[in-house]
Amino acid sequence: MTPPLRLGVNIDHVATVRNARGSGYPDPVRAALLAAESGADGITAHLREDRRHITDDDIARLSSELTIPLNLEMAATDEMLAIALRHRPHAACIVPEKRDERTTEGGLDAAGQFATLAPLVAQLTAAGIRVSLFVEPSAAQIDAALRLGAPVVELHTGRYCELEGEAQAEELLRIADAAALSVKNGIEVHAGHGLTLANVAPIAAIPQIRELNIGHSLIADAIFVGLDDAVRAMRSAMDAAR
Ligand code: PXP
Repeated sequence: MTPPLRLGVNIDHVATVRNARGSGYPDPVRAALLAAESGADGITAHLREDRRHITDDDIARLSSELTIPLNLEMAATDEMLAIALRHRPHAACIVPEKRDERTTEGGLDAAGQFATLAPLVAQLTAAGIRVSLFVEPSAAQIDAALRLGAPVVELHTGRYCELEGEAQAEELLRIADAAALSVKNGIEVHAGHGLTLANVAPIAAIPQIRELNIGHSLIADAIFVGLDDAVRAMRSAMDAAR
């Protein structure tokens, strides 16, 4: 039987709306607690170097108030390592970060950045934090993740979400191949970026994938249907695809 698929709800863009006015609302921690009640298995938050959405205080409050696992998305920097070691989230997903990008564009070059990543993965792991590497679905990246000793990879679905037709089908195949290769090597597979109610099913149907991390489209849908319904609709679409 295909194992169940966890939904990690990314609450970054609740903070984006809050920060647009410098107000205290909407509160991303309130959104996280509501998402948990609505069926989220975990909460994901990206503390960016420029603090454009999630803040240090949000991470502190999420760490103390959540009763479901927190997945901290972080760049491979000493500052973020210190923050992760202070709060000890359940998981840390290492992502590439560029100041002028609108969102995380492209995966981490786990192969090219091996020397920087090795001590980071080791220190997070020693602190009991489950490390995942956000990588493109390629054999070279999976191989690097294996050599780095990362227990999890999160496959970047951004390209799949942007493409259409034949090209999208080819990208889906790359994701499925990378997922199979990871599992064969004992690495747990997650996926995310750009997923919506309309495009999630083929990704959710890949049996090796154990978790999807979804943010922007869920928060966008919540404007129209409320966060509770948006999370429940995504949960059912994912479950229906298994
Ligand atoms: N996974 C990772 C590693 C990400 O960086 C992001 C975006 O912050 C997501 C998942 C969620 O992407 P989206 O907001 O497009 O659903």
